[in-house]
Amino acid sequence: SANGLETEILTADQAGIARATELLCAGALVSFPTETVYGLGADATNDLAVARIFEAKGRPQFNPLIVHVPSLDAVSDIAVLDGAALDLAQAFWPGPLTLVLPLKPGGSLSALVSAGLPTVAVRVPAHPLAQELLTVAGVPVAAPSANPSGRISPSTAQHVLDGLSGRIEAVLDGGPCEVGLESTIVGFDPAPVLLRPGGLPVEAVEAALGGPIATRQTNAGINAPGQLSSHYAPDAALRLNADATRPGERLLGFGHVDAVLNLSPSGDLVEAAANLFRYLHQLDDEGDAPIAVSPIPDHGMGRAINDRLRRAAAPRD
Ligand code: TXA
Ligand code: MG
Repeated sequence: SANGLETEILTADQAGIARATELLCAGALVSFPTETVYGLGADATNDLAVARIFEAKGRPQFNPLIVHVPSLDAVSDIAVLDGAALDLAQAFWPGPLTLVLPLKPGGSLSALVSAGLPTVAVRVPAHPLAQELLTVAGVPVAAPSANPSGRISPSTAQHVLDGLSGRIEAVLDGGPCEVGLESTIVGFDPAPVLLRPGGLPVEAVEAALGGPIATRQTNAGINAPGQLSSHYAPDAALRLNADATRPGERLLGFGHVDAVLNLSPSGDLVEAAANLFRYLHQLDDEGDAPIAVSPIPDHGMGRAINDRLRRAAAPRD
């Protein structure tokens, strides 16, 4: 184990939640399931606990983290929620949406959480275990995806252990994540801006706003991992929009194709999103032959899938 910790595997019951809460409130790192991906949680009001998130992930810089709370009501302690942000919160929370909001002045969050910015990213996850943990813990929980920096996000407890065993105190095992890729992130300029496509289709956000939303890849002053070009990377090289394999390649398919693994044989984008990270992890475990990926339609969940695939295929440092 990387720094001598014995990572506890906690079960999805009252005893597991009680232990996870006890550890979180004592400043420990506890990975927990959300409906998107597993988060690496720490008490967001505890500077030392938040600092340990960056150490455990090997994040090169102090990039801002998403803060998780159990309900819309709990947001007012940490951030200002009004206007279009409140509309989106009411429409989609709990769910796979993160809102970047003005920090509440004089709030109790560690300054490390927002990396010195005047804003904080907030999310109310829908997963029942996350809901219960956040409610019982009674503190806002900072949680990036529970993967080593630059690697594929975890959609099972085993993925978390593969990357972080020995570096964190515990993982609460809630089985595979239903959505399977990270939340959609919306900021305000003050007009709404899509910062990361994700588990909530952008079409749903636009329908709630009553019009199109602008897109921005990078946030002024931030160089965040989710916004860098090379991220979510498997060891093997990746080639996108492949209609056929070249010699030596393994096909990660979509739709009616003959493939080593198929994201969705029936061409269902929601199913494909749920399988994406699990299949990338699996291909990574099975060897380093290059991976070719079938074309994925660029609408609905396909937009987030293509975003993650482009990052995984980007040139590596
Ligand atoms: O589904 C998810 O969002 C998962 C689960 C665990 O909630 N979390 C997640 O966190 O994906 P992470 O740290 O891997 O990605 C957070 C993204 C980063 O790209 C970061 O730059 C952005 O959110 N972010 C956080 N705070 C921000 C802020 N104040 N302004 C702009 N972007 C921010
Ligand atoms: Mg991440």
